Amino acid sequence: MSSFASLVRAVPDFPGPGIVFRDITPLLADAGTFARCIDALAEPWLGQGVQAVCGIESRGFIFGAALAQKLNAGFVPLRKPGKLPPPVTGVDYQLEYGSDRLEARVDALKPGERALIVDDVLATGGTLLAARALVEQLGARLAGAVVLIELDALGGRLRWTGDAPLHSLLHY
Ligand code: PRP
Ligand code: ADE
Repeated sequence: MSSFASLVRAVPDFPGPGIVFRDITPLLADAGTFARCIDALAEPWLGQGVQAVCGIESRGFIFGAALAQKLNAGFVPLRKPGKLPPPVTGVDYQLEYGSDRLEARVDALKPGERALIVDDVLATGGTLLAARALVEQLGARLAGAVVLIELDALGGRLRWTGDAPLHSLLHY
């Protein structure tokens, strides 16, 4: 097991029956592992001209802000509804457990800016696809996406079509 995987805790039946929740808080709490994790997530994007890192609320903020620093890029929060003051634009989506919406300030990204989307987990892919739609709605160019964990059985990767790369570190 990788040092990253050994610090991700599997929690059965959370937040509902049949869901195995992948708890990343032990990894975050380990200074060296967290730092190596950020380096590994950033590695494929070094020198790729990423200008904005778009982190998905809330666990995507943890990785997104650190990656923005590594990549010398700005950080743009993609937020759950009602959190950002107007004017905002948004996209609705389905989750493994429920539905939600992502919003951003209407001028959060400059036209043509090269944007990287960041989150902790790719499950069904609904969140990442909504983030991609939002980035495109804002007029930016999508560099790609990066997540720490892919839950392979939920098929999110199959829904990530197109040329923009999607990188991840761990698979379950
Ligand atoms: C979790 C996770 C991803 C999303 C992945 O977010 O952080 O954003 O689910 O699921 P999907 O691929 O099926 O869309 P959650 O909404 O639970 O929010 P949190 O980060 O605030 O805990
Ligand atoms: N987000 C969506 N599904 C998840 C899971 N099984 N564990 C942690 N985060 C998630």
